[in-house]
Amino acid sequence: MNNQERVEVSLADRSYSIYIGRNIIESTNSQLKALFNKKKVAIITDRNVFDNQYENLRNQLISLELSIELLVIEPGEKSKSWSSLQKTLEWLIKKEIGKNDYIIAFGGGVIGDLVGLAASLLRRGVNLVQIPTTLLSQVDSSIGGKTAINSSEAKNVIGSFYQPKIVLCDISFLKTLDKRQFLSGYSEILKMAMVFDKKFFMYLDENWKQILDQRDNQITNVVTTSLSLKAMVVEQDEREKGERALLNFGHTFGHAFESYFGYSEKLLHGEAVALGMGLATQLSVNLKLLPYEAREKLVDHCKKVGLPLDIRQLNNEVLNLDMIIDFMKQDKKVVGKNINLILLKGIGKGFIEKSVKFELIKKFLMETIS
Ligand SMILES: NC(=O)c1ccc[n+]([C@@H]2O[C@H](COP(=O)([O-])OP(=O)(O)OC[C@H]3O[C@@H](n4cnc5c(N)ncnc54)[C@H](O)[C@@H]3O)[C@@H](O)[C@H]2O)c1
Repeated sequence: MNNQERVEVSLADRSYSIYIGRNIIESTNSQLKALFNKKKVAIITDRNVFDNQYENLRNQLISLELSIELLVIEPGEKSKSWSSLQKTLEWLIKKEIGKNDYIIAFGGGVIGDLVGLAASLLRRGVNLVQIPTTLLSQVDSSIGGKTAINSSEAKNVIGSFYQPKIVLCDISFLKTLDKRQFLSGYSEILKMAMVFDKKFFMYLDENWKQILDQRDNQITNVVTTSLSLKAMVVEQDEREKGERALLNFGHTFGHAFESYFGYSEKLLHGEAVALGMGLATQLSVNLKLLPYEAREKLVDHCKKVGLPLDIRQLNNEVLNLDMIIDFMKQDKKVVGKNINLILLKGIGKGFIEKSVKFELIKKFLMETIS
């Protein structure tokens, strides 16, 4: 018997269900039939996902006899751009996708963010379905309603909040994901545990091998637990006015490194988050907020699973710390000359440290990574 789960996101008239498991699309055919109810369905995906998993998706949807319009765009972060957004919207208009029709974002976080934004703009909002295909998008980006493209200057600065009608996390899609991408998604799972849930961290520490081997039970469990934690945070603070910022643990340093390396293959998002968690926990220890042993548990775990915690593991060149600080100053948590940082008091005990001075951060980075 397959392990299949359901998580609810309760947001008044924007509430929705997330279904998780192997071949979950086929298992939810009756719900999908009622949802689509003879409406037009437009699927937007990228070339890699099309090549590797579109047939799997089609096979699971076959009994619904949908008439599907399909758009395949180029894979990669570069597709979170004005030109891809324009192309997507013009295509949807040409295909006469109306307000009551459905747009399916079938892919990783790039497709989810781009297509989510297009769905929110077209006719001031067309029904959106998220079918995430990377581990990162299954545990994180497909829920919560953040959509975005990048400007030439900064990442994710053009966007909207737009919740999907349903999210389908089918773990069978993960099979063709390369190992490095899979581990990058695992980093977001680890982040959830570090900030919110010590027992979840212990579960990861005991089951990491089975998770990396993509065993059904363990993968379904960790995707479900991560999504339940994120759903709880989003329900309390949909628009990130306060506690939702906790989800940024590891991201403030991490985004600065991603920008430093030009959002290239040199450093994937989850790898950058791992480096950021390494620094945020070290700073927490230095400020005598976090016991040294708690950080050691993270270090030990990252070594076992193969996630980097120290930028010097990936980069032999001397880092330009001023540039890294400048990138940190682009962060949305900057307040005047200071920044709010997500630090830890223990494993599972994240909190927002308000107004940390950039001079302190620079001194810390000089001592830690230069
Ligand atoms: N909206 C949010 O809340 C949120 C949260 C976190 C990250 N993000 C965004 O998510 C993006 C990163 O997402 P990502 O890591 O999923 O990257 P991605 O969408 O670029 O996917 C990574 C690579 O894997 C390929 N791929 C996807 N699924 C596959 C599959 N099943 N088999 C084989 N190849 C597959 C893609 O074509 C791509 O080359 C970033 O732009 C980030 O800003 C958004």
